[in-house]
Amino acid sequence: PVIKRADYRPPEWQVPEIALDFALSLTATRVRADLKVVRSDAASGPLRLDGDGITPGSVLVDGAAHNDWRMDDSQLVIDLPGNRHTVTIETEIDPTANTQLSGLYASNGMLCTQCEAEGFRRITFFPDRPDVLSVYSVRMAGDKAAFPVLLSNGNPVASGEHSDGTHWAEWHDPWPKPSYLFALVAGDLVASRDTFTTRSGRKVDLAIYVRAGDETRTGHAMKALIDSMRWDEEVYGREYDLDLFNIVAVADFNAGAMENKGLNVFNTRYILADPETATDGDYDAIEGVVAHEYFHNWSGNRVTCRDWFQLSLKEGFTVLRDQQFSADMGSAPVKRIEDVRILRAAQFPEDSGPLAHPIRPDAYQEISNFYTATVYNKGAEVIRMMTVLAGPERFRAGTDLYFDRHDGEAATCEDFVKAIEDGAGLDLKQFRRWYEQAGTPRVTATLTQAGDTATLTLSQTVPATPGQPDKQPMVIPLRTALFDRDTGKHAGEQLLVLTEAEQSFAFPGFTALPVLSINRGFSAPVAIDMAVATADLVFLAAHDDDPFARYEAMQQLMVRHLVAAVSGELTEAARAEGLAAIRDVYAAVLADGALDDLMRGELLILPGEGYIAEQIAQADPSSIHAEREALKRWLGSELAAQWHALHDRCTAVPYSLEAAARGARKLKTQALVYLAASDPAEAARRAKAQYDSADNMTDRQGALMVLAGIGAAECDEARCAALADFHARFAGNALVIDKWFSIQAGALHPDTLKHVTALADHPDFTMTNPNRVRALYMAFAANPQAFHAADGAGYRMIADLILRLDPINGNVAARFVPPLGRWRRIEPTRAALMRAELERIAAAPGLSRDVSEQVSKSLNG
Ligand code: ARG
Ligand code: ZN
Repeated sequence: PVIKRADYRPPEWQVPEIALDFALSLTATRVRADLKVVRSDAASGPLRLDGDGITPGSVLVDGAAHNDWRMDDSQLVIDLPGNRHTVTIETEIDPTANTQLSGLYASNGMLCTQCEAEGFRRITFFPDRPDVLSVYSVRMAGDKAAFPVLLSNGNPVASGEHSDGTHWAEWHDPWPKPSYLFALVAGDLVASRDTFTTRSGRKVDLAIYVRAGDETRTGHAMKALIDSMRWDEEVYGREYDLDLFNIVAVADFNAGAMENKGLNVFNTRYILADPETATDGDYDAIEGVVAHEYFHNWSGNRVTCRDWFQLSLKEGFTVLRDQQFSADMGSAPVKRIEDVRILRAAQFPEDSGPLAHPIRPDAYQEISNFYTATVYNKGAEVIRMMTVLAGPERFRAGTDLYFDRHDGEAATCEDFVKAIEDGAGLDLKQFRRWYEQAGTPRVTATLTQAGDTATLTLSQTVPATPGQPDKQPMVIPLRTALFDRDTGKHAGEQLLVLTEAEQSFAFPGFTALPVLSINRGFSAPVAIDMAVATADLVFLAAHDDDPFARYEAMQQLMVRHLVAAVSGELTEAARAEGLAAIRDVYAAVLADGALDDLMRGELLILPGEGYIAEQIAQADPSSIHAEREALKRWLGSELAAQWHALHDRCTAVPYSLEAAARGARKLKTQALVYLAASDPAEAARRAKAQYDSADNMTDRQGALMVLAGIGAAECDEARCAALADFHARFAGNALVIDKWFSIQAGALHPDTLKHVTALADHPDFTMTNPNRVRALYMAFAANPQAFHAADGAGYRMIADLILRLDPINGNVAARFVPPLGRWRRIEPTRAALMRAELERIAAAPGLSRDVSEQVSKSLNG
């Protein structure tokens, strides 16, 4: 069944209060729910409560047995005579059998919940929709030895124990919330504790609960939490609103983390870190996700979503907030480049494929399929454009008004836009199309010059996407500068706002053609087409004072070269000229003493194969791979001396979490990557030395990644030895063993497919842990050389995985469909193989709604 945004109706019944009583057990937890239900004005229908995989043991109304109920599919329908009643329902669930990890489930002997989006209905019958807000009182009782820690949302109210070895606890959350924010955790956990005093003087007890032994690895997450709490007060004026804030880390988790009120539940990978086991990237991800979940307390919890079509209301805004936070905590330019790289790698393909949807979708079959890069990352970009249009102060006035106006409500994206309009004093009428239209706009820029005036002509098109053949022009804010070729300077940046299909902007004062720097800071999530000379890109790569624009010029230089090379358009002379230009800008970046190493590392990243493929109507993955490797090899050999010197210089920098040391670590492994392409023996020697002397995971993982990718037979011994050492050294540390799987599945090695097949039978592999499944198979699906094997073996492997995983965990299985769904954008032979695998999946009986929606859209969309 398709759920449509236009069909929204307010709930017929509200549930102002709910009391839940859990008799905890790993295999048979009994739940009693007391719902105070209140009929909405003008409503006359029965009470309809959602359920999923549960049956009502008994139904009482106002304390008495009640027979006027029936099941309508999975909904429990109760006829009620009056407008206010108390409905009591008992259910029993088996958390251990819950391999979907949605609702109440068991993980390593503990019990925990994941209710967003529709997991609460797997615990008890309830109007499981975000516009029903209730005050929760929770009681739980269970074996004290098995579950010494008993947690839920809000504040602890009472607890006690019995002589039979059981104990109990009661929790009360004063803040009305939708069911998706409910959480319960029971298990043998230890807490790392700290406190934070809010600016109005509330002392908040902070705790991060982990399994015994892991408490030494929570320091970074705790620091991120405290930094987030302070930052949200300073930057958005948002203060925390309970006396305690609990985080629990769980090893089995479908997503990254969950913002349950006062009780965030996290995937262990976004909590646990120490230098030996976590990379610099892991540290950054922990900081970002801890902040993201904390920021949801306002953007998500205090103001929640009216319905799931509004998901970007909380997710897009909260991603923007966590991006701004991370930018403030570290290097803002580097963070911006990383965010754009993620957008281009993950969201642009969504926008140009069969699963394209607006940031506020119009229809879905399974809402879990809409926790996408479009809703999250493009959603953040859309709100970021509002900050560009309004400026920081006026944007803040807009968000203040939003929080003030909608506190305690279930709001819509429209409410948000209206509040920014009113508070910031913007007219966002046409801007609202960003919420309506899918697809990445393409802007064509043409710069001419005559007399003393330069003229920039901009035109835009928004490509057709499934269900949206015709598009209207968008509002596209483009931060722009025109550089004087002689001085290498510009006279100030301007904000051009493109609103028409085509528009011209005149710039007096130019007697010669300037160099155009456009979409600086990536002010709009669009693709820019411009006929620009290689020399101009070289100019910008050297002179642009906007760090993102400088990065972009280098990317453009390489993308253009690679796209031309792949399409066979490149004459030998043009190839030589392109390579020389790229080598020269690389040499300049390597030599530029004014650059910090973190930024240098960004500038020296080759464009990804997926992003290159995006530029081509029907891409041949093998030639893209070959050309990109050839460019890497060329840079490796042409700049060999510089890479050696860089590796030596960076190796001498001792470990710390300071930016300079992190920059050195980033460059150290990058040097190895380029060398591995041109001189595998030397790269292997250096990688082995780096591995053997590593005192931190960034260096160790980088070295192992390089070694694992070298296919030369004479390096096989070093490769195998390092992989064996890594596995033995970190045996029992699940997060690091995940890395061991990922490194091999993502490796450049020509036998990766064979290796992955063998790894699937490794005793450490399991289909029931999402992190492990993603470590092996997401890394594989993101490895273009392996996934796009010409005989289709990579496609078959992913299709087989989807079919095996679907009955265990449909939510995670569905995440593997989009790589196959790209078939229309791949050359015909592979496209047919990909399509055939999708058809094989579609023909299988009993598919989950998750997989079935993604597969049918991928075939027909
Ligand atoms: N709200 C969570 C977050 O972004 C993610 C929940 C994921 N749920 C899902 N069904 N995929 O912070
Ligand atoms: Zn979120």
